[in-house]
Amino acid sequence: DPLSDFIRGLPKAELHLHIEGSLEPEQMFDFARRNRVDLPFRTVEEVRAAYAFTNLQDFLDIYYQGAQVLRTEEDFHDLAMAYFRRLAADGGVHAEIFFDPQTHTDRGIPFQVVADGLLAGMAAAERELGVTSRLILCYLRHLDEESAFATLAAAEPYLDRIAGVGLDSSEVGNPPSKFARVFQASRERGLKLVAHAGEEGPPDYVWQALDILGVDRLDHGNRALEDAALTRRLVDQGTTLTVCPLSNLKLCVVPSLETHPLRRMLDLGLKATVNADDPAYFGGYLLDNYVRVAAALGLDRVQLARLARNSITGSFLDMAAQVPHL
Ligand code: HPA
Ligand code: ZN
Repeated sequence: DPLSDFIRGLPKAELHLHIEGSLEPEQMFDFARRNRVDLPFRTVEEVRAAYAFTNLQDFLDIYYQGAQVLRTEEDFHDLAMAYFRRLAADGGVHAEIFFDPQTHTDRGIPFQVVADGLLAGMAAAERELGVTSRLILCYLRHLDEESAFATLAAAEPYLDRIAGVGLDSSEVGNPPSKFARVFQASRERGLKLVAHAGEEGPPDYVWQALDILGVDRLDHGNRALEDAALTRRLVDQGTTLTVCPLSNLKLCVVPSLETHPLRRMLDLGLKATVNADDPAYFGGYLLDNYVRVAAALGLDRVQLARLARNSITGSFLDMAAQVPHL
């Protein structure tokens, strides 16, 4: 298919990818077997049938349950490597992957097991596939500030190998302001800052991500479009938005891909990118996200090249900081 071939050929970076969300059902059974973890499912079909979500929390409940099978350094290595193989096949050249340390430390898996496994997978991907990557530690916003500070302390020996921190999990009721101090402490350690905002939460949460947290990049940001002054601010400061079309569809953030705001974002001059979020749960990896949203919105090759370019210049690679959003 020419559209798909064109997009595959564009060098692309993935900037919004939860590595725990790349856990495929087949792999979930493999890890459960080798770690002797009981699963409430008997078949891959049963698992896939459970992936019918009506909102973010529906998904999060099953996503945290799936993550229970991840126990060893090898699991995290294999999980990452499987993701990078798919990224390379999609024409991805770089990824900045999120991980949720509290999901693992809260069930007794040490921070080091998670970080060492992921970093080993990232090194193998660069060696074997030529795909570069960076790691972004996400604080779970449904947990308290103290737990986030404990996570930053656990990460201390790894800060030379962690590019930044993010904020994910249940958005509504957990505003960015709740994490003002731990983001400030993270900034003081030289970390880049990102946050999920405006996925289900109101435009005010996006304002908070900008003004209180001081994020370098915004994850999702869909609901920013409800506020003209906020939209202008994002355009004027050239903030990169990591948009996730298939995620938005599966979590009912949009009623259809045909009504997805991506095209409007580009028309407004927002620096939007396309990403998979949690591909094993939302039905598609990076290339699928591009192809399906491009087909639904009738995006042309200039717009697709713009999206790919935004992903490279919106990354935390040193050279990217030099390129203005024109
Ligand atoms: N939103 C919030 N938290 C998440 C997501 C998401 O899409 N995926 C994994 N954690
Ligand atoms: Zn996300």
